[in-house]
Amino acid sequence: MAELSLTSIRKTFGDATAVETLDLSIANGEFLTLLGPSGCGKTTILRMIAGIAMPDAGEIRIGGRRVDGLPPEGRNVGLVFQSYALFPHMTVAANVGFGLKMRKVPRREAEDRIAAALDLVDLGRFAARYPRELSGGQQQRVALARALVTEPDLLLLDEPLSNLDAKLRDQLREDLRRLQERLRVTTLYVTHDQSEAMALSDRILVMRAGRIVEEGAPEALYRRPRTRFAAEFLGQTNVVRLIRRDGMAMLPWGEAMPDAQSDSAYVSIRPEDIALRPDPHGPGRITACTFLGPTVEYRVELAERSLRVRQTGSGTVLLTEGTGVALSLLVTPHPLAEGMA
Ligand SMILES: Nc1ncnc2c1ncn2[C@@H]1O[C@H](COP(=O)(O)OP(=O)(O)O)[C@@H](O)[C@H]1O
Ligand SMILES: [Mg+2]
Repeated sequence: MAELSLTSIRKTFGDATAVETLDLSIANGEFLTLLGPSGCGKTTILRMIAGIAMPDAGEIRIGGRRVDGLPPEGRNVGLVFQSYALFPHMTVAANVGFGLKMRKVPRREAEDRIAAALDLVDLGRFAARYPRELSGGQQQRVALARALVTEPDLLLLDEPLSNLDAKLRDQLREDLRRLQERLRVTTLYVTHDQSEAMALSDRILVMRAGRIVEEGAPEALYRRPRTRFAAEFLGQTNVVRLIRRDGMAMLPWGEAMPDAQSDSAYVSIRPEDIALRPDPHGPGRITACTFLGPTVEYRVELAERSLRVRQTGSGTVLLTEGTGVALSLLVTPHPLAEGMA
């Protein structure tokens, strides 16, 4: 295990810049996630750290040791990709042991380490099977065991759950989290899925078009985003423009912002932070109601805008389209330092 640092790393393909000059560091034992839309440069960063792609500029250090001139096998990183990338003609044990064989680890020691790695991902009894005899989730756990068996300084995971169906994805996400709590291996995780990022990470870096837009711990980033991009990428939100009246900052439905000094123009309000109350004289009107089981999603038309509102709990009465409503906030809305996209 070791810390990772990228300093002024940059990568272009022809005239296209995949990764703008950026710095990034991960503490020893930290689980960091790069979160961003497809094409924003996440995989390119991972490939440069693994040594599969060469940066145009900058330095990469693992545990203080400069590695950007080294071949992949000199870097001691473990890699797991979206596609399981297992050898189909090899058993589970042989797949997991492949890296040990390359490193000429003696057979007895290799057998012990393979067994330990398979136990770690709870696949001990599947050692003699072939990949095709396993579910997608099990195959991805084999890939994880294969990445961990060489005791890497750093674990790199590129969208490892995205090929799995929803149930398996949740299961493996929990497994990954437990494994990380136990092993505390320094991990860089890449995903475009905000719930995965929030469920797994100590810290998230939100990326857009080759740059880091914002970073923070999951809760802080979700509840107090600084940028509109992060606010919207971490989940649904309502970006609302404040109205200034007599030196006061007001929300569009007339409620005053508690911090009247707030001079930001926009606030981010999560749908679950708005309460609705039926009121024929209220300023809002329900224009859509979608029942999703655990939540009910509303569209509320108000002062020529449309807000998303989410209600939870089986006790709530469904409000039908056309119902007039009053709105109130359950938390103080969060001002955005950067309101525009
Ligand atoms: N080998 C390559 N050749 C040319 N362009 C590439 C190559 N790899 C990635 N890119 C481009 O770099 C950008 C970032 O890609 P990538 O790192 O794969 O993004 P992400 O993993 O976030 O989806 C994209 O515009 C992609 O098309
Ligand atoms: Mg990618």
